[in-house]
Amino acid sequence: MISKRGDYFFISTKSTTYVIKILDTGHVSHFSYGVRIDPSEKGLEFIHEGFDVNIGCGTYYDESHPMMFMDNLAMEYGTVGKGDAREPALEVRYGGGLFVLDPVFCSYRIFKGKNEDFLPCALSDEENVESLELVLKDKLLDIFIHLFYSAYEEEDVILRSARIENMMDDALVLENVSSMMLDLPDSDWELLSFDGAWARERYITRRALSPGVTVIDSKLGCSSSEHNSLIYLVRKETSAESGEAIAMNLIYSGNHSERIEVSPFSKIRVLTGINPFNFSWTLEKGGSFSTPEAILTYSASGWNDAALNFHSFIKKYIIRGKWKDRLRPVLINNWEATYFNFTEKKLLSLASKAKELGIELFVLDDGWFGRRTSDRAGLGDWVCNRSRLPDGLEGLGRKLHSMDLLFGLWVEPEMVSENSELFEKHPDWRISIPGRTPSVGRHQYILDLSRKEVVDYLYSALCEVFSLGEVDYVKWDMNRTMSDYFSLNKDVSAMGGFFHKYILGLYDLLSRITKRFPDILFESCSAGGNRYDLGMLCFMPQTWTSDNTDIHHRISIQEGTLMGYPQSTMGAHVSASPGHQSLRKSGIESRFNVACWGAFGYELDLTKLCDEDLEAIRNQIGFYKKYRNVLQNGKFRKISSRDDNLVFWSSTLNKTTIVLEYQILNRPNTGFQDKLRLPFLDRSKCYRISNRRQIIRKEDLGDIFSSYGKSVSEEYSAVVSGRLLCDYGIFLGPQFAGNGVFETTRILGDFGSRLYIIEEMD
Ligand code: DGJ
Repeated sequence: MISKRGDYFFISTKSTTYVIKILDTGHVSHFSYGVRIDPSEKGLEFIHEGFDVNIGCGTYYDESHPMMFMDNLAMEYGTVGKGDAREPALEVRYGGGLFVLDPVFCSYRIFKGKNEDFLPCALSDEENVESLELVLKDKLLDIFIHLFYSAYEEEDVILRSARIENMMDDALVLENVSSMMLDLPDSDWELLSFDGAWARERYITRRALSPGVTVIDSKLGCSSSEHNSLIYLVRKETSAESGEAIAMNLIYSGNHSERIEVSPFSKIRVLTGINPFNFSWTLEKGGSFSTPEAILTYSASGWNDAALNFHSFIKKYIIRGKWKDRLRPVLINNWEATYFNFTEKKLLSLASKAKELGIELFVLDDGWFGRRTSDRAGLGDWVCNRSRLPDGLEGLGRKLHSMDLLFGLWVEPEMVSENSELFEKHPDWRISIPGRTPSVGRHQYILDLSRKEVVDYLYSALCEVFSLGEVDYVKWDMNRTMSDYFSLNKDVSAMGGFFHKYILGLYDLLSRITKRFPDILFESCSAGGNRYDLGMLCFMPQTWTSDNTDIHHRISIQEGTLMGYPQSTMGAHVSASPGHQSLRKSGIESRFNVACWGAFGYELDLTKLCDEDLEAIRNQIGFYKKYRNVLQNGKFRKISSRDDNLVFWSSTLNKTTIVLEYQILNRPNTGFQDKLRLPFLDRSKCYRISNRRQIIRKEDLGDIFSSYGKSVSEEYSAVVSGRLLCDYGIFLGPQFAGNGVFETTRILGDFGSRLYIIEEMD
């Protein structure tokens, strides 16, 4: 709900309110953001904690406003040159190099639904969404800034974006245009960011903020696994379940930048948007530039609730198309089972074993096309290699469909190998600077998607492939980052627009392809999770989270990912032991217990497994299908544990909660183990708790199998009141698991885990 009262604008959602104040000078200042307030509440002016004075050598606005120090004012969209020396939201050049702007309030509009200036953008819904457009104009020049705020009532999310309009006769060059700026009155916040690298995506970094600017960004041409565009501000005492949290993210897949500045006066400014690095965009008279959208949420009750706001927002307003609300199929992917070394016969034997176990989708990964028998050749030639697949993609598709399996196919359209027909025909289509030898990544080059002819070629090549194979699912990969930024595209003004134009070309291709194939389930991938962002999710309902499927690393990777993105978007597979990325050995049941929290599948050679593992997999798939909706669409919560050795996760849908208990290392005869507390359950109800039965291989327990085997593989159940579960918590140790003595020594083993099913009773 959005309203105006005097000089104040109130943007409210179910539990939050964002307030903007227009100052008597016309400047648009930020007033407050936090729990919901009533615009008619008495004494509202006193909640503004900002003390705007900067005595000493500070610059004040003008002689009529000697107390208005721009450097210490909370603003909605900071510019340069009137005394505010903090990081600006907007930087421009005009009239031969001037950059000073002084924008003030000009007009406003409140309307149902939202604008759709930049694509991709969040969906709208007239019932649930209301928007505010504030128009600002520079005091001297015909430069207009439109600030958009859309309130998603139910999800407690505010969407922000900006549009810059040049109505001067001269050209205006944009050098930095943020999607959102947020000025907070104190710096008593810590920053959570989601950082890493290949195989270590979105590990949570928590740090205190200190004076100066902290930058989280990507300059790699994609949103990147190094720093995700998701960030949180949390209080020192904030945990998953309590304390204040402000979270934000960007709907964009290219270079992004999140700048967090602690000012000399201990205030915080946060900016998020397209990275100003190597960016410039020229607007001729009448031209405008719209930023990608940013999303913002606030929780007074810990970061679980902020993440849940984002989860429900993403499921409703980012994911679209046929698969939006559909349960995702259980898949088998041949990559780690065969790598490049496969024949059709091998694929079909894998498929038939998969079918026998209950798997629904077979995914053929890299290596089926052109000269691609290793990663040194073939990218760009999207034609089936018939020496591997004698009946072509159409033949393989037919065979899989006749086995009642869906057919999934891997592609990496944005790339070209030097050893390919495409490169021989169009060497100038790769990104490279004339006269320089381009740098290489995985022996391959990136195609210049800022050029329409390249996008058109890819569109027709992919249409052919997807139709021929009657493909049901596509894994869209992208395995290197950008170098040698250069384009023959005349529109890429002075190369400063190159990165952004590439992303616009990619979005154009994706929107055409997804419109042409509305039934295909697309999964985005980028050497694992190098492009896990809301822009890609607007086209592809799920993302391959990481190439690293090691059980222990996945705990961190998935926990970080779920802080911003819902389980249904998160590809998670059980692969072989020892794991190919970590060489760690772990049991197949424990690998399942961790992988089943997302869009789930297997990625190992099923034809080589022993009978006990196959039996375990059959049960796992049965369990997953039974609780798929809870695991993919339930409310995910990290449950804090005071014992660093234990991890608890939960997911709740209607009357069912699934809980993961994961132990890092085995600690025999240990004293303290934390209890499981589920404070979100209903205190007035009773719950039946049972554990998922696991099949333990004899060889994993050795000579003591006969005594241990039974206790780890049996099912137990108990009834516990909601009040005890909420307020006291319960031990999952001996009392719960029957054969006390063995459970007491935590025979779950290193990296051992269990799943519990908690059903509300009538
Ligand atoms: C990187 C992906 O993340 C893997 O899953 C696999 O598809 C390979 N590329 C294939 O080259």
